Amino acid sequence: MMTQLRTSTVMSLALALSFLLTGCEGASPDKAGLKYSEDLYDGCVQCHGENGEGNQQLGSPAIAGLERWYIKAQLRKFKKSQRGWHIDDMAGKRMQPMAMAMNTDEKVDLVAAYVASLPRTNPAPTLEGGNPETGKIYFATCVQCHGADARGNIDEFGPPLAGASDWYLLTQLQNFKAGARGTHPDDVTGAKMRPFSMTLPTEQAMKDVIAYIGTLSE
Ligand code: HEC
Ligand code: HEC
Repeated sequence: MMTQLRTSTVMSLALALSFLLTGCEGASPDKAGLKYSEDLYDGCVQCHGENGEGNQQLGSPAIAGLERWYIKAQLRKFKKSQRGWHIDDMAGKRMQPMAMAMNTDEKVDLVAAYVASLPRTNPAPTLEGGNPETGKIYFATCVQCHGADARGNIDEFGPPLAGASDWYLLTQLQNFKAGARGTHPDDVTGAKMRPFSMTLPTEQAMKDVIAYIGTLSE
């Protein structure tokens, strides 16, 4: 009986936590809502591009087709200064005020729905020298949270990595490892990721795993 009780308490805590982190998925926007979410996205175009393809010069990644729950969670983090707060996170600091412009939950939800609805753009690789064979071995530790196909795993809050900008993946792995991301005391999901950036001992190892992720992107 006690065990049962405890299990259900843990279960409801887990549910509450996942609700807190992902929020409830809003209803699909109707036609007027879709136009509105597209309008909200106008403020993102200068950096992330018309089709969400990103812009390496500006350090803004491809975001088209990311999962809606993940986009919402990240916009909330930028707004609450759990991401982009660290002194070494210059790119995060450029994004932060943009998230502030999404000043209601509705705006966050609708712009996320719009970005998620865009087809992934699969940016061309920019990094050189990564060995996908070695990367595959490293990637075995990532599968639990990011999926064997690198399409993400919502149960672990792991975002999709396939189809991402490769230079952006490298920056993020470096940020996690150096503590520029995932170290804010309220950043629960970032803290889950951070120890795994440590399993990649060198920049070469990061490039290897990214090269392997590249083979899963299409
Ligand atoms: C001034 C340029 C700029 C504008 C405008 C901008 N962003 Fe960003 N965005 C960035 C940069 C730079 C990053 C990368 C931050 C980092 O390296 O951690 C980023 C990161 C993100 C991420 C995180 C992606 C990931 O994989 O974790 C999301 C989501 C995002 N932006 C959505 C938006 C949305 C939605 C808008 C419009 C409301 C927007 N951005 C407007 C520059 C911008
Ligand atoms: C225990 C679960 C877990 C494991 C294992 C894990 N990750 Fe993550 N990873 C996450 C979570 C959760 C996030 C999102 C963090 C956040 O919410 O800011 C993340 C984010 C990332 C990001 C940033 C993506 C973006 O769009 O900004 C990269 C890159 C990444 N992980 C790569 C890896 C690699 C490579 C491995 C294996 C070496 C790995 N992860 C292992 C949970 C995990």
